[in-house]
Amino acid sequence: MNASDVFVIGGGIAGLSIAWRAATRGLTVTLADPDPGGQATHASAGMLAPVSEVTYTEEPLLRLGLASLERWPGFAGELEASSGIPVDLRGDGTIEVAYDADDLAQLDELAAFEEKLGLRVERLTGRQCRQAEPMLSPNVRGGLLARDDLWVNPRRVARALQKAFQNAGGRIVRERVTALDDLPADHVVVAAGAWSPSLLPGLPIRAVKGQILRLRGPRGFLGTCVRGTVRGSEVYLVPRDDGEIVVGATMEELGFDTRVTAGGVYELLRDAREIVPGITELELAETFAGLRPGTPDNLPYVGRHRDVWVAAGHHRAGVLLAPLTADAVVAGLFGEADLMPECSPARI
Ligand code: GLY
Repeated sequence: MNASDVFVIGGGIAGLSIAWRAATRGLTVTLADPDPGGQATHASAGMLAPVSEVTYTEEPLLRLGLASLERWPGFAGELEASSGIPVDLRGDGTIEVAYDADDLAQLDELAAFEEKLGLRVERLTGRQCRQAEPMLSPNVRGGLLARDDLWVNPRRVARALQKAFQNAGGRIVRERVTALDDLPADHVVVAAGAWSPSLLPGLPIRAVKGQILRLRGPRGFLGTCVRGTVRGSEVYLVPRDDGEIVVGATMEELGFDTRVTAGGVYELLRDAREIVPGITELELAETFAGLRPGTPDNLPYVGRHRDVWVAAGHHRAGVLLAPLTADAVVAGLFGEADLMPECSPARI
């Protein structure tokens, strides 16, 4: 291997984004991954949804999500121009819907919380939900519209990042790195998602399994991104420009288990059908399970750790946080101001 300025371990959306951004700033960059874009990024639905994914007690994550969301249109535009690959960034907002009275009460509480945080959400009656998205079931009780949320196709983003990175002079090595010793670079970045602790023992990242489905329908079957709470359990449906609908996702603490189970598929289809009954007519095109890298406080680790850089632990927000993470790591490499101080690994 030739010597590089930077050696990135991990070709998920975080590692690829860091590698591309570093290469565009003139650094010599090598990225190693046996299957770039093939793990959590391949599973992901690509919701860029800091508003509709906001969770009580996670305001620092919300602020990071909003900061990264602002970067997404510029990031996607530059990526498409550099790679020639469209990434299907869409901005029609997310509708969050409630199935029964308890789900509606929960959604009302969430709306109050979102309003208190100054987020732009509109409360919708059941009828208004169906006006905004005609495929929604007549049983939907009410909802919220988070207009500022976006979504993107992460598989296309991963392909575009590889192309743009290589166009910028970057090198991809399709190998698994098993140790940090003697890597031929001035800086090493560990961006290996749930696998990062195998390189950095003691890093408190765990695998959180997410089963996810892909349905194939006619183009425009669903016009907007829908999140539903159905008898207390959460489901989302994310439409692609080619008619694909991504239905996700389970949250399972099972370690490195990527089996797709009958129960996982059943629960996703059961809940998705309650809010969009028409999906039963669509082809079940794919089932997949990915591993989110979870951390104890649900914030990623981005920054200097021992004698390497780390960018891992993005849990449910890897796609959303990719532009900010890349800019933060590259700023660190150049000795510039820390863009994600709350994510410092010093808190471990
Ligand atoms: N951000 C969606 C998920 O992790 O399922």
